[in-house]
Amino acid sequence: MPKKFQILVVDDEESITFLLKTELEELGGYDVDVALNGTEAINLLQSKIYDIVLLDIKMPRVSGIDVLKFITEHSPTTQVIMLTNIVDYKTAIETMKLGAYDFVSKPYDTDQLLATMSRALDRRQLVIDKEVMRNELNRITGSSGIIGESPVFKNVIENVRKVAASEAFVLVQGLSGTGKELIAHLLHNESPRKERPFVAVNCASIPDQLLESELFGHEKGSFTNAYSAKQGLVEVADGGTLFLDEVGDISQPTQAKLLRFLETGEFRRVGGTASMRVGVRVISATNKNLQKEVQEGRFREDLLYRLNVVSIQIPPLKERKEDIPLLIEYFTKRKSKSKTKKVSPEALALLMQYDWPGNVRELEHVIEGSSILSQGDIIELSDLWINPSLAQQVHFPAVPASNNGYQRLVSLEDLEKVHIQKVLEHHHGNRLKTAETLGITTKTLYLKIKRYKIPVPSPGDHS
Ligand SMILES: Nc1ncnc2c1ncn2[C@@H]1O[C@H](COP(=O)(O)OP(=O)(O)OP(=O)(O)O)[C@@H](O)[C@H]1O
Ligand SMILES: [Mg+2]
Repeated sequence: MPKKFQILVVDDEESITFLLKTELEELGGYDVDVALNGTEAINLLQSKIYDIVLLDIKMPRVSGIDVLKFITEHSPTTQVIMLTNIVDYKTAIETMKLGAYDFVSKPYDTDQLLATMSRALDRRQLVIDKEVMRNELNRITGSSGIIGESPVFKNVIENVRKVAASEAFVLVQGLSGTGKELIAHLLHNESPRKERPFVAVNCASIPDQLLESELFGHEKGSFTNAYSAKQGLVEVADGGTLFLDEVGDISQPTQAKLLRFLETGEFRRVGGTASMRVGVRVISATNKNLQKEVQEGRFREDLLYRLNVVSIQIPPLKERKEDIPLLIEYFTKRKSKSKTKKVSPEALALLMQYDWPGNVRELEHVIEGSSILSQGDIIELSDLWINPSLAQQVHFPAVPASNNGYQRLVSLEDLEKVHIQKVLEHHHGNRLKTAETLGITTKTLYLKIKRYKIPVPSPGDHS
């Protein structure tokens, strides 16, 4: 069942709160809490995350404006709709400047209120999406295409579909590049939470001191650079899925805090005192062997036990080589402009022979590089951009040197370097034109020239 939207109605007129609660709950899809004054409202707001607050402006002592200020500071994704009397019209406009989404005048018209609420929910989702992107933690692949027909892989997908429907926490394990993140997306997209946020946190890429505040948020002034309060990603993910990527890299102190959260659903913002509660489903992934990490004392056993209610193990590509031709077809279609590009039988034979230590990601890169290089519709053996040392591993025949004098079996970085060099030469060292041709900014070009130590021909040098 989809999660209900959490609504808080704040009004000192009990008849209004009663009416709103009854009406909204009868419609279904809403859970409605009620506060009869500003203080009660603030208490509730400290322990629960609401999608929408319907807020009376005029209340004794703590006014609607005070509550509104608290919400914009404390829970910026929550949308506030002010309930006003006609005479309050001017104040109502003022509240919108302070961050209220809209206002509805009392006595309210139900249809109008519902329409406003629906727009407010859309806006909340937009704010959340923006927040997630701002954090650059959400690395959605942008494609739900999951390719694989081998019996082992089909078995994995079947299991994923089965557990997706449940609320169970899932630990996805597999070597690097096997598609753990893709599977995590599938778990979310096939779950009843699919309309709610999917928030990915890469635990390995965030410095440990920051991870706690990224996850649980922080209060203003809780540390040197905390100029304003910030919601944690667990709040942003409320009602949806929290994806803890590279979970094996979390430090011991943060492991303890995460465990407490997973056991109780409760957490405190860094520097905060109030205990808050959210409902998220946690999917985690790692390329480490967590059982071994536990044995060696680097990972808490109780945390592993919590995360690993259901375990999905993705087999490495070398154990499902039947999938290679399908993946090649998929990547050539996706990566090359020509939709008819194919791999020659000799090239395919080599690709099948290879062990793919970098799994699907490595295959994807090889196909991407080879598609750029191959001139016609066929990717030939000589077009394959496999790292020379890896080519040796599969006893690839002597590496042919191209007429440009560089070996074709090189890494993508080498390809990039040579390509930049060629374009620079073509434009006689003109960086602006080179950047234009390459489709990158001159700054990026400058950085790449520096990084690869590319000699730049001087503009007058046409030899
Ligand atoms: N079965 C598949 N079908 C299509 N594309 C796939 C498949 N598996 C992986 N990929 C692609 O391979 C790349 C790597 O996948 P992903 O990021 O999910 O791997 P990962 O296991 O999370 O790797 P890492 O451990 O390095 O984080 C992505 O571009 C993904 O789209
Ligand atoms: Mg990953």
